[in-house]
Amino acid sequence: MRISDEFLFELRQRCDIEDVVSGYVQLKRRGKNLVGLCPFHNEKTPSFTIYPESGSFYCFGCGAGGEVVSFIRRAENLDFTEAVRFLCDRVGMTMPSDGFDDSLAQKRKRIYEMNREAARFFHECLLGEKGSAALQYYLNRGYTKKTITRFGLGYAPNEWRALLTHLREKGYSYEDAYEANLAQKSEKNGKVSFYDNFRNRVIVPIIDARGNVVAFGGRVLDDSKPKYINTSDTPVYKKSLGVFGLNFAKNSKERSLILVEGYMDAIALHQAGFTNSIACLGTALTGEMAHLLSRYADEILLAYDNDEAGHKATERAIGVFSSIGMKIRVIRLSGGKDPDEILKKFGAEKMRSLIEGGENEIEFALLKARDGLDLESSDGKVKYLTLAAEVLSSVKNSIAVHVYSSRLAEELGVEKAAIDAKINQLKRHKAYGSQKKKYDEIQRDSLSKMSKLRLSTKTSVRSVRAQERIIILIFENPDFYPTVKEKLGSGFFSVPVLERIYTVISQRIKEHASLELTSLSSELSNEEISEFVRLTKQSERFSGTKKELLDCIEVVESEKERTQTQSLDVSGLSDEDFLKAMEKLKNKK
Ligand code: UTP
Ligand code: MN
Repeated sequence: MRISDEFLFELRQRCDIEDVVSGYVQLKRRGKNLVGLCPFHNEKTPSFTIYPESGSFYCFGCGAGGEVVSFIRRAENLDFTEAVRFLCDRVGMTMPSDGFDDSLAQKRKRIYEMNREAARFFHECLLGEKGSAALQYYLNRGYTKKTITRFGLGYAPNEWRALLTHLREKGYSYEDAYEANLAQKSEKNGKVSFYDNFRNRVIVPIIDARGNVVAFGGRVLDDSKPKYINTSDTPVYKKSLGVFGLNFAKNSKERSLILVEGYMDAIALHQAGFTNSIACLGTALTGEMAHLLSRYADEILLAYDNDEAGHKATERAIGVFSSIGMKIRVIRLSGGKDPDEILKKFGAEKMRSLIEGGENEIEFALLKARDGLDLESSDGKVKYLTLAAEVLSSVKNSIAVHVYSSRLAEELGVEKAAIDAKINQLKRHKAYGSQKKKYDEIQRDSLSKMSKLRLSTKTSVRSVRAQERIIILIFENPDFYPTVKEKLGSGFFSVPVLERIYTVISQRIKEHASLELTSLSSELSNEEISEFVRLTKQSERFSGTKKELLDCIEVVESEKERTQTQSLDVSGLSDEDFLKAMEKLKNKK
């Protein structure tokens, strides 16, 4: 069920987009609009624009667009209903309780509250009688009282139901606690019983960027195993996207984040003044996580543990961050196993110099290549050169290649020309390999690739422009709809997102429902509403008459016929010609 149009209209009246967005973006007036740095991608010059007149926003850099609810949907990572609720809270409106299912949102709210209660409980236990050993543990690690308070550190008593009992007093059931992964469940002889998940452990609450307690980590006080246990996935927490310290780091002045392996390291770094430190909780760093972090920083300073596992993870992380175009530097923790130990052994100054001397990914790869090789022997030299050339052959920046190959030449007493020749040879191999791979891929799932190919041959730019105009024309003049409804049957729109937008709009016209942006947005994804807002921004240049509409329909239909007769037949082409044809198509687009 959807939230009523009337309610959304009222909400949109009360939530001024300029007001809401200025909580996230510093806006400057430009004519009747406002501009700022886009919060959804990294940029240095503002391409994010607010249009107070239509209550919409659009970023010319990344294409994000929408109205006030979609803004919150993106900025706070919420679904539509949650974003509406978020805005309601802000302006003191009450969500209509009937007519749509908000049980998940309710459940999440309850878990957030319960987690906060649990954090408070753990913290009080730490400061109470039962917590003296745990408090001593923290103090031995060098954490100050201030740090303990700042991070809300706690202790889970050595009992089976300490937290459960407390939560029950506060009105939460054992099942509730189980759902938040605060409790474990066991079944014996058909009898179910619950017990605390965290027992006799020091507790670190994981707080997200919005300040919600989303999870907990617990460490033993001695050397027993497992050393750490952490909250697994719950309705409010996805472990692979769990980050410790972002609530503080996001306010740091730096546009970089120091990423470490453990939250205990991150806390030690914060205490030493490195307030842009964070730790990820998932086992493997994912692209999704990298994207999340890219919202808060332009550069990642990687300070993983100085051991084999840490080096492996570092390599992986370099790959993940570079693939989304984020800058990355590797901090080599020489002299210690992790940041915590470096700080303890040598202090903050040493740490700072390590951070400032961070290596870029090329240096890191080269250092790894020489691992275990004896560079005094010719054999070791040759091996190192081969590996190093391999590394440099995948570096795109030719100046960087020049710098490193000169350095290598000097270091090893070899002609630079010889190194360059080797690098170039490897480069050619790679280029060939990737062309071949491209061709193989196309062959492998030829079916889906072919249909894509057909799409790109059959859909001319002219036709897509016309399809876009038709959508806007109908949106701006719903009374045009009856004239066109038969003509625009299925298959008319060749781009899925346009088809989807058209379906939503035409359905609403049929039902005489509102075409307000917020109402449309309730049925469209972030990408779809962005696309739609983009279209509305282009609309001013056109006449907007029924004649224009009919012309557009005509264009789509004639283009369809024209391209059908000349679609590309690839069956008889050689590999090379086929790739050329693909290239041509790409360039045409
Ligand atoms: P480490 O074993 O390096 O932990 O694991 P640490 O931070 O140096 O711990 P201290 O200093 O001995 O207290 C790094 C991270 O891996 C996760 C934790 O997040 C930890 O901080 N980990 C490790 C677990 O989740 N479970 C484990 O059993 C061990
Ligand atoms: Mn460690």
